[in-house]
Amino acid sequence: MSNSSPLRGKRIVLGVGGGIAAYKSVELMRRLMDCGAFVSPVLTKASLRFVGETTFSALGSESARTSLWDAGDPIPHTRLGQQADLVLVAPATADLIARYAAGIADELLTTTLVATNAPVVMVAAMHTEMWQHPSVVENIATLRRRGVVVIEPEIGRLAGGDIGVGRLASTGSVVEIIEEIFDGSTRALSGRKVLVTAGGTREAIDPVRYIGNRSSGKQGIAFAKAAARYGAEVTLVCTVPFESEPGINVIEVESAQEMFEAVSDAAGGFDLVVMAAAVADFRSKEISPTKIKKSHGAPQLVLEPTPDILAYLGSVKPKNQVLVGFAAETGGVEAEARRKLKDKNTDFVVANNVLEQDAGFGVDTNRVTLVFEDSALVLDLDDKRRIANRVLSFVAEWAGKNGVWSD
Ligand code: CTP
Repeated sequence: MSNSSPLRGKRIVLGVGGGIAAYKSVELMRRLMDCGAFVSPVLTKASLRFVGETTFSALGSESARTSLWDAGDPIPHTRLGQQADLVLVAPATADLIARYAAGIADELLTTTLVATNAPVVMVAAMHTEMWQHPSVVENIATLRRRGVVVIEPEIGRLAGGDIGVGRLASTGSVVEIIEEIFDGSTRALSGRKVLVTAGGTREAIDPVRYIGNRSSGKQGIAFAKAAARYGAEVTLVCTVPFESEPGINVIEVESAQEMFEAVSDAAGGFDLVVMAAAVADFRSKEISPTKIKKSHGAPQLVLEPTPDILAYLGSVKPKNQVLVGFAAETGGVEAEARRKLKDKNTDFVVANNVLEQDAGFGVDTNRVTLVFEDSALVLDLDDKRRIANRVLSFVAEWAGKNGVWSD
């Protein structure tokens, strides 16, 4: 597990509602604790028909609580609510959602919810008919208007064997959303314009074939999402499909030439450019307009260089722009990165060794070194989302310290 999870040291009240999915909150609690959170379980009376207090007491960061009237702690709800960095309810049943929306404080969990100023996340789980009932729909809308994060149920097998929407969201996706809530508390790029490129370019040989590379675009997309979470207005120039999200304007391209045109058109207006795309260095000099036939024998491909987009950006870089390049290497990583830093006039190079396990192409994790000036920051192996968060917060702080964004 990562030491750099934003959950490290956070106090989370885990409220468990009375639904069949209650057994899944044990696993959720463990995952939150693995990330370094301190989890206080609070069980409703109804949940005790599905799961046992002992399980949560044995596995939680402290004993489970089930009542407002525990001896020795006369006001557990205000204490829990005040100390919490976040209150998480999983599963949030139709009944709990209704009571919270109406402000009813009739047991420890509902009282804690009404007494807290911390962010609240409700992970809904119930039968499809209940989820779609107008009362539930209205209560959810009310809670969202008040700033509560509601994680919607997934489609899957429900109690009794029915299949439909209603199943508790997966533990992984709940943890991810909570991490983002804590991460997003920093608005390091608020009001900044950020350009990110992502994915490998494809250089056509004929209408069917192309020269390509192994880049999945995951790291670049993680940068675009992180920049948007940090408050930036993001333009993502991307070779892989990406469903647009608030704060991210997507331009789809395929070849190095198309990427060059999309980027060079607008580059001057950006405060930060993150050139994460794996741009092909060479393309076929001629593109056959029709499919090259095997029967005509092995074709001789003549290659020519593509435009070096990063080098071009470095050559026209305005004073108030931070330029971040990448270096995917198979050896001598830092030295190669430093050479690119200088040759392409970038402020940072994010370097990795793509031969290492768990780093580089296709996988969700990465191990990178951030090379800048005459220093290097070596980051631990981490998932690509957190790598993006860490690099961006570092870069934003550096830009602030060096007066690059002096407005
Ligand atoms: N890059 C670019 N345009 C190209 C090739 C690369 O903008 N035609 C950018 C990449 O997006 C990345 C950086 O340059 O940010 C480094 O890419 P890399 O292929 O490692 O660099 P090269 O200059 O091709 O160096 P070498 O082939 O010597 O390793």
